[in-house]
Formats: sequence, C-alpha cells, structure tokens
Amino acid sequence: MSVWAVLVAAGRGERLGEDRPKAFVRLGDLPLLAEPLRRLDESGFIDHVVVVAPPGWEEPAILLAEEIGASKVSACVTGGATRTESVRAGVADVPDDAAVIVVHDAARPLLPDEVVGRVIEALARGFDGAVPAVPVTDTVKRVRDGIVEETLLRDELVAVQTPQAFVAPVLRAALDAGDGSDCASLVERHGGRVTVVDGDERLVKVTSRADLERVAGWL
Ligand code: CTP
Ligand code: MG
Repeated sequence: MSVWAVLVAAGRGERLGEDRPKAFVRLGDLPLLAEPLRRLDESGFIDHVVVVAPPGWEEPAILLAEEIGASKVSACVTGGATRTESVRAGVADVPDDAAVIVVHDAARPLLPDEVVGRVIEALARGFDGAVPAVPVTDTVKRVRDGIVEETLLRDELVAVQTPQAFVAPVLRAALDAGDGSDCASLVERHGGRVTVVDGDERLVKVTSRADLERVAGWL
C-alpha cells in the first residue's frame, strides 16, 4: 500500500505581505517550505511526496528539496489560482496505484509525525477520509449583514487542520466534482465518510507575521 503526500505550497501569502510567496519566507535558517517538507520526508508513514509550488518557484522548490536531502520528492508541480486547483495539480501527479493521499498545507510547518499516523490509521478503520481537529474555544455565531442569525453549539464544533488523509480514488473523484475550502469538504459533499482525529496546537496555520514569529519560537 503506497502513501503519497501532496504538499500544497502554491499560495501567494498575501496576508503575510512579504516580497515572496509564504512558502519561501524565512523560518529559522531556511525557507518555510523546508520544515514541512523535511518532516513529511522523514515520516515513516509517507512513501512519496509531490510538492506544489507557486508559478515560477518550481526550480527553487526542487533545489530546496535537494539541499535538505528530501529523497522522497517525486515531483514539483505548478499550483493553480485556488487551493483546490493546487491540490488537483498535485494529485494529478500521483500515480494511479497510490492507495492513500495525504494533503498538507505548507503553511502549517510544524507537522507532528503522530498526527500523520493518526489520519492514516483512521482510514484502516474504513473511513474515506480523516482530518485532524482541535476544539473551538470561542463562541461561534452565524452572522449576516451584521445581524446574528444563530449561535452555534460549541460542543458540536471543531477547527480543522491538515494533514488530511483520503482513500486515493475517493479524493480524485471528489476533486473532479467541485471546489471547497478544504479537501474534506469536497469528499463530504461527494458522499464520503470523513472522521475526525485529534489535531495539534502546533499545526497552526501561518497567516500573519505574528503567526510566523510564534511558529519560529517553537522550532
Ligand atoms: N495554497 C496553494 N495554492 C493556492 C492557494 C493556497 O497551494 N492557490 C496553499 C498555500 O500555499 C498554503 C495552503 O494552501 O500552504 C493554505 O492557504 P493559505 O494559508 O490561505 O495561504 P496563502 O493563500 O498563500 O495566503 P493568503 O491567503 O494570505 O494569500
Ligand atoms: Mg489563501
């Protein structure tokens, strides 16, 4: 059974506002991309990695993979205009005989290997997909035009992270069917059964300068 990781790093990082894409902003001594790439490469749960880079950044991504000795990288492909497009581009490069595809945001650099293990292990229990999640601590309301329409039951809410693992053919079919903010939502809409496993606070997504500094402090 081969497990492929698709590492999506093709975003522009507009909210970070640097002179380069987020994946190439410095984190510690190297571009941010090095951290999640090294962790996936070193994971005993992952066999191969496809990196999805911003247009024009494919070559720097390959050079970075070589620099850190990431030997599982099979290809570096060009991302698209949306995250879903970028995932599609990466998945298109995963061979047909792959059993499992794990999609991870490069913007979540501090990937604990036990979370990779948890999402993959959940598929062995018969689920089509598995996502890591953490409890929501704030009260969440649904608001339209500044008016609260509903206060959601916090016990039923979780905040979802990546890595997200899927039975490969299920993810491919869901990606053919539409777009969504994460891969799991596509699989859910396509009738797939997605389960939730424990996420990790270290998997915060680097969006702002403050996030980057927080993550750098945890390195
Ligand atoms: N991503 C991608 N291709 C896109 C958009 C996003 O591969 N067209 C990736 C990002 O590189 C990131 C992950 O999806 O690893 C989550 O996206 P986000 O945190 O929104 O990153 P950016 O889109 O780069 O940031 P911003 O929205 O601030 O521009
Ligand atoms: Mg974005």
